[in-house]
Amino acid sequence: MEHNYKYKKNELIDKGTYASVYKGILYNNIIPEEFLEVAIKELDTEEEESFNRVVWTLEKNILTQLKEHINIIKYIGALNEGSVFALIFLYIPRNLRTFVNTIYDSYNDFSFYIKSFIFQLLNGIKYIHSRNIIHCDIKLRNILVTDEFILKICDFGLSLSYDVNNVSDQNFNIQSLWYRSPEVLLKTNYDFSIDIWSIGCIFFELKYNQILFNVEDEKELFLKIIQIFNIEIENIDSKNIGLYSAINNSIEIKKEIKKLPKFKSLCNCNNRQLYDVEDKLISKMLKFDKNKRASANEILKNEFYFNSIKIESEYS
Ligand SMILES: Nc1ncnc2c1ncn2[C@@H]1O[C@H](COP(=O)(O)OP(=O)(O)OP(=O)(O)O)[C@@H](O)[C@H]1O
Ligand SMILES: [Mg+2]
Repeated sequence: MEHNYKYKKNELIDKGTYASVYKGILYNNIIPEEFLEVAIKELDTEEEESFNRVVWTLEKNILTQLKEHINIIKYIGALNEGSVFALIFLYIPRNLRTFVNTIYDSYNDFSFYIKSFIFQLLNGIKYIHSRNIIHCDIKLRNILVTDEFILKICDFGLSLSYDVNNVSDQNFNIQSLWYRSPEVLLKTNYDFSIDIWSIGCIFFELKYNQILFNVEDEKELFLKIIQIFNIEIENIDSKNIGLYSAINNSIEIKKEIKKLPKFKSLCNCNNRQLYDVEDKLISKMLKFDKNKRASANEILKNEFYFNSIKIESEYS
């Protein structure tokens, strides 16, 4: 960061896996009345210092590849003073998890926001993907909400540049469990579409005020995915051998699978009722086969669901 600035660290906002995020103020030394409210993501250096430093460097590298975009958190710069390693962002007062919790408690109706939020998420992810980056950790806590209801995707700590020539060496320690795609779960090749899966999970959660895959572990996630989407276990390609054989070889578990609800019943649809336009779109994002999942660009271009927003907004 330029030397014209100094910062003051205030209260802790949140403590993550490898960093703590503080609220702070960034002052301009030359024009003291010019200051910004910022979030300072400071590396925890007490444990696993060298590993954490690698993560910090990777996140910084990804952030420098992203230019300013309305739906991406504004990155101000990196700080490295002595043993302090930090990334500085514009401060945004809440994340989508806290926003949803408050709104559901007070209004009990979230439908007004859903279309706009999913549109903005796709708009942000479309931009990230256009820079050849996969976010790899889309979830409510990694999406910030401004006072004007603008969404800002944050936390590029697990993000990576997609290398089509190097898919044999992919890292599967990505994506939080509830939003984890089948490819990452089964350790098969993945691409940008893992972020679309996570957005599908979020879309469902916002619409039904219910976490779609509210599971404790990978086994439970696998069971729910194959049952909800009616996938035949024998047809699955999996390199997660332990997980796959634990399920495929257990008659008990196979019985259990049959009892779980299907996607249609989760969407409150009975036989007569068809999916509504939102359910259809959610199921397009949650295709088990990643090649059948639509890209952010395709969804934004082709889905009439977003037409009213496109007309109102200044987004392109
Ligand atoms: N620019 C910001 N303004 C305000 N709050 C922020 C900002 N960036 C992050 N936060 C808050 O801090 C939390 C943790 O930040 P972030 O997700 O970047 O860190 P992390 O260490 O990778 O977290 P985790 O391991 O929990 O995913 C976020 O969920 C959000 O609530
Ligand atoms: Mg996070």
